[in-house]
Amino acid sequence: MTEPIKKAVARRRTFAIIAHPDAGKTTLTEKLLLFGGAIQLAGEVKAKKDRMNTRSDWMKIERERGISVVTSVMTFEYGDNVFNLLDTPGHEDFADDTYRTLSAVDSAVMVIDAAKGIEPRTLKLFEVCRMRDIPIVTFVNKMDREARDTFEILDEIEHKLALDTAPITWPIGSGKSFAGTYHLAENAVRHGDAEVERQKVNGPDSNRVAGLLPENDREAFIEELELAREACRPFDHKAFLEGHLTPVFFGSALRNFGVRDLIEALGAWAPPPRDQEADTRMVHATEDKMTSFVFKIQANMDPNHRDRIAFVRVCSGTLERGMKAKLVRTGKQMSLSAPQFFFARSRVTADEAYAGDVVGIPNHGTLRIGDTLTEGEDVIFRGVPNFAPEILRRVRLGDAMKAKKLKEALQQMAEEGVVQLFQPEDGSPAIVGVVGALQLDVLKERLAAEYSLPVDFEMSRFSVCRWIAADDRAEVQRFIDAHRGDIARDLDNDPVFLAQHSFSLNYEAERWKAIRFTDVKDYQ
Ligand code: G4P
Repeated sequence: MTEPIKKAVARRRTFAIIAHPDAGKTTLTEKLLLFGGAIQLAGEVKAKKDRMNTRSDWMKIERERGISVVTSVMTFEYGDNVFNLLDTPGHEDFADDTYRTLSAVDSAVMVIDAAKGIEPRTLKLFEVCRMRDIPIVTFVNKMDREARDTFEILDEIEHKLALDTAPITWPIGSGKSFAGTYHLAENAVRHGDAEVERQKVNGPDSNRVAGLLPENDREAFIEELELAREACRPFDHKAFLEGHLTPVFFGSALRNFGVRDLIEALGAWAPPPRDQEADTRMVHATEDKMTSFVFKIQANMDPNHRDRIAFVRVCSGTLERGMKAKLVRTGKQMSLSAPQFFFARSRVTADEAYAGDVVGIPNHGTLRIGDTLTEGEDVIFRGVPNFAPEILRRVRLGDAMKAKKLKEALQQMAEEGVVQLFQPEDGSPAIVGVVGALQLDVLKERLAAEYSLPVDFEMSRFSVCRWIAADDRAEVQRFIDAHRGDIARDLDNDPVFLAQHSFSLNYEAERWKAIRFTDVKDYQ
């Protein structure tokens, strides 16, 4: 392990923000970037006006619907740290994208609306983080609006998520009188954004704190803080890293309150790039040799250049511009001539990237989701999952002459992870599968825009799809032979069983005990 690699790894924090739509993820993202100096905005007004034009609006559909469909990555520095923030799509129809993104982060920030508490999507995303042991920092946002009682919010996190909480800061006032945050352990206050440094105070009864609160609220604040000190858990770093406890911060992304508290906590406590499990061994982040995996493919980020970018998370070593890397799936070498880093609105050529960094690699279809790139070693990273689609459709093409073009286009879309593609064994036309209905709209839109293929979708006779496997391969073959009309192959040629409804799936599962029917498949 070399010293520069060790140092670079220690500085890095790669994280995502999880939130229910409207909780303030976009606003917080903008503020983190702003504080990190990655974007310079003249002011809030401009930020708002710019929002619909500049915020990851690579696709028309996204602009029309005002949602963030695509996943992107943004890098910024703050203090001694380099932060890689991976954006997750806000709409639940893009769940696969979100899960893949979460496979590439080391920690997450959970944003909660102070008036609404834990909402359904937060809960779902939290469960994914828990499955992957991703430590979570909580940011209770919108304290400048009518908020729930602070203890009540903490209580709800503990009960709904079965997660211990440790409030690090405490809100000074709320709603219209929200004035800043009080650091419980340090006895220091931060009054909005103007104050870069926390100011030490003697305690909650100090004049400085009193000056921030309306006269009638001062007594109550002192009592509340005393109670918080007695009743709340202290921060325990180990429990946080193990995913059992979340440090909680309060603030208002819109008004810049509490944002610095949050960034500093990520720098101080969030884990640096973790060691990553591969098929044959554990790969350590500080090893010399480069390893990385593709967790996202995105086409047409820049409509002027019809490009296709593979987002790669570096797991070890140094990814250098111009280096040759082995694509383990095919055994072939590829030259990484123009890796890119992404900032808020620009991308620059990446000369060197280390574990935890995410770089974009332009390519023309060589790279797929789940691919591993190395400096020669045959290791494969696991854990970029593929979920069984919940909606299965046949694609109907108006012009039969374009069938071959459609086949190619669908193959491309499937490699990008836009849809899943299944080729029935009996030779009937391909079936596309999606987890959420909006993905079908994206497919339709992109086939029309990028391939001039106007398509419609037809119901398929199947509604359930499961990957099949067994310890004994011959058993899988027997199952396939007995169900020819209900078997299809995915992009990797792995067999899936298609059922008309879950009843028939359960029936088969009863009869074929040695077969495992799974609704999640790791790529590779
Ligand atoms: P999302 O990405 O999680 O969906 O949320 P987003 O940041 O877009 O915020 C949703 C709405 O909540 C926005 O208002 C935003 O201005 C507001 N908001 C975010 N953080 C805070 C906060 O700390 N305090 C208050 N009071 N509001 C906050 P909008 O009216 O829907 O959009 P816009 O027209 O203001 O942009």
